[in-house]
Amino acid sequence: MSAGRARVAASILDADLSNISHAVRRLERAGADRIHLDVMDGHFVPNLTFGPRTIEAIRRRTRLPLDAHLMIANPGRHIGAYIDAGCDSITIHVEIDEPIPPTLEAIRAAGRFAGLAVKPATALTALEPYAPLYDIVMVMTVEPGFGGQVFMREVAATKLLAARDHLAHLPVTGEVHVDGGVNRETAEFVGAQGADVLVVGSALFVRGRDMAREIHLIRSLADEGYQFALNDGEPPVSRDEWAPFTELPRDLAAPFARTIEDAGIPVAVFRSLHRSTDAGQREARLFVPLAALPLAEERFGAQRSRLESEASGRADDR
Ligand code: DX5
Ligand code: ZN
Repeated sequence: MSAGRARVAASILDADLSNISHAVRRLERAGADRIHLDVMDGHFVPNLTFGPRTIEAIRRRTRLPLDAHLMIANPGRHIGAYIDAGCDSITIHVEIDEPIPPTLEAIRAAGRFAGLAVKPATALTALEPYAPLYDIVMVMTVEPGFGGQVFMREVAATKLLAARDHLAHLPVTGEVHVDGGVNRETAEFVGAQGADVLVVGSALFVRGRDMAREIHLIRSLADEGYQFALNDGEPPVSRDEWAPFTELPRDLAAPFARTIEDAGIPVAVFRSLHRSTDAGQREARLFVPLAALPLAEERFGAQRSRLESEASGRADDR
């Protein structure tokens, strides 16, 4: 995993599709964080690409997470096949004419991340009816259908930061993806708008360009945009780093961890080296993502102090 905050999901749409496994291996070696798979049905969009069988074959060729972007009119009918193909996240479009919740629920029930994408002309309010059911908001900054189009800056400016509000149910793990026209010219701007995942297609397949340098550059530019526009000049921390939050006897730690998780903050529980003084069991150490530490302190700092003094009270009673 790369340091920093922004993640690059490399789209293979502009790769040589007669040799997808070569393209995927190159992207992996070049340091892409994920593979973004553009599925098109020639109906929802005026272009046709590949389906679950191709994704299944790609799954065998890479260890990178696979983000599927389904630009298809009837994902509900086929969702099982995309899940079985090994997608780590599946994003469907909010503009489709079929019920959306069952498809999002099926994706989540399979333990994958569920996403909703909005076309440039679709307002974010379209997401409202589905609010707790998705993990990803994908903001399209080109008309879906083809790679290599021009980035719609106005759409990004109106929607990217605002998309975060539509992920209030997942303050830490929710992701804003930006898809379309992201390259070295636009990366800093989308970073400054708080995008978490940058979908990058054609910019990675320019002849004569070093793919690894390009991925690195785009990620760094996005982080710089974030640092100076949204993070008071502080370099962003990686979302994969964890920070210790507290150490408690296990009977206090377990329910506390659940409470924190219920608020949308992931918790990792490790056994401590200390044994608690009363039952002689090892204590539990709770970790939260470093990026979520301020939020965890704000929401659960007081409760943590109470629990910690309860624990030391027990020790004193002995
Ligand atoms: C467009 C696709 C995008 C596209 C991105 O319909 O959803 O993922 O491939 O390609 P670029 O980066 O070239 O805009
Ligand atoms: Zn896409």
